[in-house]
Amino acid sequence: MNESQPPPKSIVLIGFMGSGKSTVGRELQHRLGYPLVDMDQVIEQRARKSIAAIFADEGEEAFRDMETTLLEELNDPAAPRRIISTGGGVIGRERNRALLRHLGYVVWLHAPLAVILDRTGRNRDRPLLHTDDPVARVEALMAVRKPLYAEAAHLHVDTSGLDCGELATGILESARYFFTGHL
Ligand code: S3P
Repeated sequence: MNESQPPPKSIVLIGFMGSGKSTVGRELQHRLGYPLVDMDQVIEQRARKSIAAIFADEGEEAFRDMETTLLEELNDPAAPRRIISTGGGVIGRERNRALLRHLGYVVWLHAPLAVILDRTGRNRDRPLLHTDDPVARVEALMAVRKPLYAEAAHLHVDTSGLDCGELATGILESARYFFTGHL
């Protein structure tokens, strides 16, 4: 990460669990034809187990180390332009926030609490919400993370009332300005 490296070029989606990163990532992939890297999926493939199993067997810190390692690998100056969809807690580490911004245009997708609760309540894939009171957990995590998403992001998108096509159009317009300024 220094001045002599080429300019950033990927679009990086961050945001809380259930904020729509994977769906919007697929729409951007469809529009741009860039490869989509879903960090959670890559980590699961490498570990050959689900994220819930990684948390259960190895603990959260081991999972966070896997995220940092993957971000370091993605920061390859020779890599093609990509869409990168992250896990909701990736912004927890300062190092990760720096790596994210170096990868490209960082877009924070923000959804209202009710939407997040509805989406995350539909499956059991998210170990951090395996608790007696997932609402309180979401609220507490959100309070800690909001300033970190804000710090990491170049663009803050309120997803309320917008479908993934509308979101992708808005993101692409803003990204065009960003990349023009970095050429
Ligand atoms: C996490 C979010 C999940 C996944 C893991 C931890 C978090 O990804 O990385 O369960 O800390 O918020 P999604 O945001 O895609 O659900």
